[in-house]
Parts: sequence; structure tokens; C-alpha cells
Amino acid sequence: MTTEGADGVSDRGGSERDGGPGTARRDAGQATDPVLSFTDVHLSFAGVKAIAGVSFEVHPSELFAVIGPNGAGKTSIFNVISGVYRPQRGRVRFGDLDLIGRRPHEIAALGVARTFQNIELFENLTVLDNLMLGRHVHVRYGPLPALIWLGRTRREELRHRAVVEDIVDFLELEQWRRYPVGLLPYGVQKRVELGRALAMEPKLLLLDEPVAGMNVEETEDTARYVLDIRDELDISIIMVEHDMGVVMDLADRVLVVDFGSPITTGTPAEVQQDTNVIRAYLGEEHAVLNADARPGAGPDGSEFRHGPTREPARETGSQDHSAAGVAVDVEPSSRDQRGGRP
Ligand SMILES: Nc1ncnc2c1ncn2[C@@H]1O[C@H](COP(=O)(O)OP(=O)(O)O)[C@@H](O)[C@H]1O
Ligand SMILES: [Mg+2]
Repeated sequence: MTTEGADGVSDRGGSERDGGPGTARRDAGQATDPVLSFTDVHLSFAGVKAIAGVSFEVHPSELFAVIGPNGAGKTSIFNVISGVYRPQRGRVRFGDLDLIGRRPHEIAALGVARTFQNIELFENLTVLDNLMLGRHVHVRYGPLPALIWLGRTRREELRHRAVVEDIVDFLELEQWRRYPVGLLPYGVQKRVELGRALAMEPKLLLLDEPVAGMNVEETEDTARYVLDIRDELDISIIMVEHDMGVVMDLADRVLVVDFGSPITTGTPAEVQQDTNVIRAYLGEEHAVLNADARPGAGPDGSEFRHGPTREPARETGSQDHSAAGVAVDVEPSSRDQRGGRP
């Protein structure tokens, strides 16, 4: 798999993006092999269809969003990609490799990193230590080689530290680096989690609701970091997000799912006008009303931008706990989304 042809550097300037919803980047991406192919995947739990025939491809340097009401199967898609859930049917290819059947740590080591719907960090460890744990997938020495080849081990250690320090710079975590994560504001904790995923030096980054529970300022900051990750680090991203404003502003393409089934895939502008999407989000009468809506406008405008009305109270994320340990072998702490807010 290669990202060379993605043209991710040359179209980095904001003007091209402003000219249309990710068109230049998307076309460039599609000229090359996909980073990820998720093909006709089916996953059920005791009769509940979490994923029912979902297919999509993610291209180099693409920011691909998955949206849908609560329980639509978005986190399950991430759990299939990262090897936490094994689907009954379908195929998941990462470059030339089949992912289904591989263990989560193996998939992480291949270059798929993720952040969780609820923060999964070690609260008592510092920012730096949490980021160093993200390097875990790249540690090549065990205790014995560590004793025998002290020099080489030390060089590896220095390289890990250098990567971590770069991430501290990139995410502007300098002032927090020696603090235990549990003491930090919620938005900073989410950023540390992003940093932990970046520390794995992934080719593909899975972000599960990266701005959930954030205030406006934190949301804007995060949106900027996500764009920088795609454009400067040249990492492909799949983002699950409820904040429609963020999805519509950031995503190159969007997949809409409902009750495990794919509704549509397209640019933000395309999906915003899709009658089936409006039906899934807002109900039948809005879909009928939208048939008369002016082109380019969302159904009911602001209502759509602020997310699905069917969304019940925020999940506590218990379904995500099985996913803990993708990046590290020890059980990390897990808290409610707003648990860390001062
Ligand atoms: N480990 C699991 N055991 C049983 N049901 C599950 C499990 N994980 C997900 N589900 C079910 O699959 C459906 C999709 O869940 P999920 O992927 O978490 O949705 P989303 O992230 O879109 O809110 C839900 O009905 C959920 O209850
Ligand atoms: Mg979810």
C-alpha cells in the first residue's frame, strides 16, 4: 500500500478545499488503491443486526465520516476493523492484507489506531507516559535483549521519546506533558487520547466521536487538529461523529448508516440532500417536505446540522469496553464522556 500518489501535500492549502467539499482531494485519492476496503460486512448479536451489508472504501489522505442515529452500528464498524468483533460475513482489507481473523494488537501494529467514544487513558499516568504507551506496538525489544544490547535498546527508547515529543508539539500539549491525565480538562484529555493514537504512527486513524461532550472552543480546536492530521501527517481518517456541523465541514465523503444498513455514501452536500438520509434522521414528513427544499440547503437547515433527533441520552459506552486493550495490553481506565470535566 502506498500513499505517495495521494497528492496530500500539494493540495494542502486551504483554498482548494474551500472551492468545494473535498472534491480535489477525493478525486486524487480515488486514483490510487484504497487504504481500507470494507466489503459487504454482516455482524449480528443474538438476532440484533449491528451491521447489515455495509461496504465502503477509504482512500489515501481521505477523511471519511460515518454517521447515523444511535445504535446504527457505527462503533461496531470500528470494532470490526480493529479486530475486536469478528463479522459473520464480509471482507475487510487494509492495503493488501485481510484484517478479519487478526487480533486487535496485530491490526494496531499494522497501522490502524483508534480513539474511543469514551476516553480510554491511564488517568494516573502523565501525558508523556500515556503517549509512550501508544508506542507499545513498536517496541521490538524484550527484557533479555534489553540487557544484552543496551546500546540498541537505548537508541530505540530515544526514538520513541522523539516521536512522542513531536506529537506533544503537534497537538500543543507542552504545558500539560508532566500532569497526570486525570487532572486535565476534558478537552485536553480527548487530545491526549488522539496523541496516544498518533504515537502508534498509524496509516489509518479511527476516531469515534472525537468532539462528543466538547464545548464550542474545544470542538473548533479538535476540528483543526483532525484536519492537520490528514493534511500534514498524511493519515487517512475514518470519523464517527454526531456533530453534523463538524462532519459537514471536515469530511471528504460521508457514509450514512441506520439500523446497521447503509443508507447512502457521498459528499457532505450530497448526503445532506438525500431523502433517505432525512427520513432516517428526521422522519417521514421532513423527507416529503424536503422534496421542495432549495438545492444546497439542508433539510430544515439548522436542525440537521445539530444532529439526529432520534438520539437518546448519551451512551455510557459500556459497549466499548470490550475494545479496551487494542493499543495496550493492560486494562485502561474508562470513564463517562463528561467524567473528566472540571
Ligand atoms: N458486544 C455487543 N453485544 C451485543 N450487542 C451489541 C454489541 N455491540 C453492539 N451491539 C448492538 O449493535 C447495535 C449497534 O451498536 P453500535 O455499533 O454501538 O452503534 P452506534 O455506535 O452507531 O451507536 C446496537 O443495537 C447495539 O446494542
Ligand atoms: Mg457508538
